[in-house]
Amino acid sequence: MMLNTLFHDKKLIHLQEIDSTNEYAKLLIKELTYVSEGTTIIAKNQLHGRGQMGSSWESNPNQNLTFSVIISPKMLVVEQFQISKIVALALVGFLNQLGIKNISIKWPNDIYIKEKKIAGILIENILKINKIEHSIVGIGLNVNQVNFTTKNATSLQLITSQAYDLNSLLARFLEILERNYFLLKSNQHTVINEAYLKNLLGFQIERKFSTSTEQFKAIITGVSSMGKLQLKRGEQLMEMGIKEITFL
Ligand code: BTN
Repeated sequence: MMLNTLFHDKKLIHLQEIDSTNEYAKLLIKELTYVSEGTTIIAKNQLHGRGQMGSSWESNPNQNLTFSVIISPKMLVVEQFQISKIVALALVGFLNQLGIKNISIKWPNDIYIKEKKIAGILIENILKINKIEHSIVGIGLNVNQVNFTTKNATSLQLITSQAYDLNSLLARFLEILERNYFLLKSNQHTVINEAYLKNLLGFQIERKFSTSTEQFKAIITGVSSMGKLQLKRGEQLMEMGIKEITFL
């Protein structure tokens, strides 16, 4: 029987300053013969935080959570979007526990409060043949920062007018992540898929999208097992990858 303590041997690595906690995690995996699951690298100041699709992740020093968790799911590469789902759901569960309302997952895995982004996820996988040997789960969560250069960003403090202790937030989040990871390890895909769609921004609602050539309205009908967005545009069903479409 698998115990619900997948991160029993985890280590917390606190760094004052680093380029990117994801990059540090990659080096750690390369250099060590064994890295225990749940090992987490957290930086007070991340100098070159990386975001999805080659973007950057800006975060003021000492005000937010920027960290990477190493897991070793040993699952098939074709199932990799399930990791994205359980991480996004862990953030949803965590924000819920803090009493935050109007949380949603903006496909593929941005976390929004109403129309503003509070957290981003960058997952990088290290493969061995057709299996995911290690997955580096990088998370940026806006906590105590109140001024942002981008206008669609928010933070816990902007929402609740309260300051938070970063270390205790991290400990709470890791517990929830571990629980959600357990769902994945015990193959509870229906539970995961239903929860993901329930929290997906715009699910079964008509929204505007744009591709490199046009703008159009469509209804989100689901997400494929490979993580593609499934849309219904008029009578036409379509599947779009992250590089092909922007969700307006
Ligand atoms: C996104 O929304 O584009 C993803 C942002 C992910 C940012 C986190 S911060 C910790 C980890 N280290 C990185 O360099 N990026 C991720």
